Amino acid sequence: MAALQRRRLLGVSGLSRTVRALSGMGCPLGSGLAEAAPPPKAPGEDLPSPSHDPHGKNEYDLLVIGGGSGGLACAKEAAQFGRQVAVLDYVEPSPQGTKWGLGGTCVNVGCIPKKLMHQAALLGSALKDAQHYGWNIAQPVHHTWSVMAQAVQNYVKSLNWGHRVQLQDKKVKYFNMKGSFSDPHTVRGLTKGGKETIVTAENIVIATGGRPKYPMHIAGALEYGITSDDLFWLKESPGKTLVVGASYVSLECAGFLTGIGLDTTVMMRSIPLRGFDQQMASLVTEHMESYGTKFLKRCFPTKVEKLESNRLQVTWKNTDLGTEETDSFDTVLWAVGRAPDTETLNLETVGVKTNSETGKIIVDASEATSVPHIYAVGDITEGRPELTPTAIAAGKLLAQRLFGQSSELMDYDNVPTTVFTPLEYGCVGLSEEAAVQCYGSDNIEMVCLRERAQRILGLHFIGPNAGEVIQGFALGIKCGATYPQLMKTVGIHPTCAEEITKLHITKRSGLDATVTGC
Ligand SMILES: Cc1cc2nc3c(=O)[nH]c(=O)nc-3n(C[C@H](O)[C@H](O)[C@H](O)COP(=O)(O)OP(=O)(O)OC[C@H]3O[C@@H](n4cnc5c(N)ncnc54)[C@H](O)[C@@H]3O)c2cc1C
Ligand SMILES: NC(=O)c1ccc[n+]([C@@H]2O[C@H](COP(=O)([O-])OP(=O)(O)OC[C@H]3O[C@@H](n4cnc5c(N)ncnc54)[C@H](OP(=O)(O)O)[C@@H]3O)[C@@H](O)[C@H]2O)c1
Repeated sequence: MAALQRRRLLGVSGLSRTVRALSGMGCPLGSGLAEAAPPPKAPGEDLPSPSHDPHGKNEYDLLVIGGGSGGLACAKEAAQFGRQVAVLDYVEPSPQGTKWGLGGTCVNVGCIPKKLMHQAALLGSALKDAQHYGWNIAQPVHHTWSVMAQAVQNYVKSLNWGHRVQLQDKKVKYFNMKGSFSDPHTVRGLTKGGKETIVTAENIVIATGGRPKYPMHIAGALEYGITSDDLFWLKESPGKTLVVGASYVSLECAGFLTGIGLDTTVMMRSIPLRGFDQQMASLVTEHMESYGTKFLKRCFPTKVEKLESNRLQVTWKNTDLGTEETDSFDTVLWAVGRAPDTETLNLETVGVKTNSETGKIIVDASEATSVPHIYAVGDITEGRPELTPTAIAAGKLLAQRLFGQSSELMDYDNVPTTVFTPLEYGCVGLSEEAAVQCYGSDNIEMVCLRERAQRILGLHFIGPNAGEVIQGFALGIKCGATYPQLMKTVGIHPTCAEEITKLHITKRSGLDATVTGC
């Protein structure tokens, strides 16, 4: 149900509400970031390590390789059942040398620093709006990257610390080591300094996630470019930035870079937000353009060179005009997708099958790989959404099935998500394109089925706090909500979310969906 009846969601309405966006992440409001001081030194490795049994019994009931969203959730859940559990986590520095602590992508180089920087940008917009509400704020307002970065990085370090403490409290043994299989029950862990530890386990879960890809065919890409793994840990402003790619990572990063006042260009070779409802994707990019982000459409880069001035000169092909063009930037950010982190795991030796095209691990509905006691969850698995809540839920349910006599499987249908662009886009269920493909255009109205019950197949919302809005409606969709039920739902006035309860103009009617009054 595309939210066609668009209110003027920008400007004075709605922005005041965005300040609360972080409360759901456990991030303190207001001065919270400033309060997030660097954590004390991590606790020592003082948990007893079950010694290797020479008679062949495995040391641990469960060994998890990868201490990110899915792996930590699985390990902590398994420990609740009184099992011996160990986690191996190791962060390979990015090609530019950036490294971070325990907690995986979401905590260190994903959702959390991204949402905080998005919040920084929203605050900037609110400051500009504030003068219309009578606040005397000297314009133009300036943003200092190093202050934001320090606060974000301190906050992330406090989460690293929290994860270590939680593992210790739950008696999960943590090895800061890189794991690779020696045999189906044995993993070899290697510390940064090259010290080796052999760990054996009855069950093993692979949750090693993914890392950003570099377009290696482009000269200078690896040498001079950075990825999202580096961006969140930069101490100084990236300056004028070219962001290559047009999906979640690219548009979110370009959005907050623009919002904090940086000259930002997105280079898009095809469509924005592939797989999402394309009408909504266009609204997202149109808004970004009006917000100040530049777009180079149907362009792809061919080389990056360093100039004497230290700036990066990028050359690209414009496929519409058939021309070659160049410009110089301070930073080139590759946001061209992510690759699974399986290379060093030695999966072939133990017979864990991967998809030869994507490199991801093939799992069944119970997250089992081709080797019976080896499982995989999260971004490393083939065909699953690459999202933190799905990785966490899959990890927990797996532990419950392994040790808690549960048979409940993870349900990957109707997983809601939000793209945290300046104007956020939240959705759950099918895009209009997917609904038409599944049911035929004659059977669809507003991404609802047209048959009698009019079940809602997809809900799409663009506006402030889209994630907060969609989260509640996702419950309705999960319960099989229908269009008549939605129309019986009383809105909360005045909110942006209430627009969803008032949708009545469809595309087929040809009427103008712009909302002009209360
Ligand atoms: C910029 C960005 C923004 C994002 N924003 C969101 C968002 O807003 N909402 C959302 O839901 N999702 C978001 N995601 C996606 C989300 O971060 C991932 O889906 C999630 O972190 C996946 O969890 P995971 O457990 O599969 O892997 P990860 O969290 O990546 O954890 C894997 C861990 O395993 C370690 N590891 C790898 N190999 C080994 C080895 N051999 N031995 C030991 N350890 C190893 C890695 O270093 C890492 O610590 C974002 C991602 C990015 C990149
Ligand atoms: N808010 C969130 O929940 C959130 C935020 C960030 C990330 N994530 C997760 O992380 C996953 C990865 O996201 P992502 O944005 O990194 O990757 P992605 O969804 O795979 O998108 C990659 C983008 O890069 C483009 N691209 C690929 N190769 C290119 C090249 N050589 N030159 C130019 N452009 C190129 C693609 O264009 P084409 O379409 O033309 O191929 C696409 O726009 C997502 O699936 C998502 O689940 C979630």
